[in-house]
Amino acid sequence: MTKVSIVYFSGTGHTHLMAEAVAAGVNRVEGATAELVRITGDQIVEGRCQNQEALDKLSASDAIVFGSPTYMGGVAAQFKAFIDAASSVWFVQGWKDKIAGGFTHSGSYSGDKQGTLLYLATNAAQHSMIWIGNAEPNDGTVNRLGSYLGVMGQSAVDMSGAPAMLDTGDQKTSELYGERIAIAAQRWKKA
Ligand SMILES: Cc1cc2nc3c(=O)[nH]c(=O)nc-3n(C[C@H](O)[C@H](O)[C@H](O)COP(=O)(O)O)c2cc1C
Repeated sequence: MTKVSIVYFSGTGHTHLMAEAVAAGVNRVEGATAELVRITGDQIVEGRCQNQEALDKLSASDAIVFGSPTYMGGVAAQFKAFIDAASSVWFVQGWKDKIAGGFTHSGSYSGDKQGTLLYLATNAAQHSMIWIGNAEPNDGTVNRLGSYLGVMGQSAVDMSGAPAMLDTGDQKTSELYGERIAIAAQRWKKA
């Protein structure tokens, strides 16, 4: 069984919905299974995320997909605290040659989300992982935001307290990306 872990932070639920959609895509691929690993702010002690269980789960996976909302043009502090904690894995290159991917969600159409994806890809490169981009052509619905480095989602910020909703195009793009990651992980394992 090819195992794909999706590690992410989500404050108000949109990135969580993207993570679920990526997982649904992974689970559509025969022989692949997805696990959601959610990072929360209360895991942070003195600025560093304390979640060894998450690190162990990721180390046991064939592929890791990283997800964070875009906060101030980059990853959320809660997610960065986790990434910094994963430097313990970097020291032993524990994620070397695993398949990697990433996604983000923002309030504005641009919102400088590219900065978030660039950071996620840079982190994967530091871990000597194999980055998989988004291969879906922009047809106005799927990949409507035209992002190929990873998947972008967007919804206007809603302060009403209503439950988070995902754009249907972003949902489908995330699912297709999950499929692509799972298939890439299977091919990479065979090689
Ligand atoms: C601290 C903070 C910073 C934010 N910075 C940006 C930003 O740079 N660009 C943007 O488009 N939206 C920004 N937003 C809006 C979030 O990206 C948006 O609400 C996103 O959907 C949150 O994802 P979540 O529901 O998974 O928490 C910011 C929100 C917060 C709370």
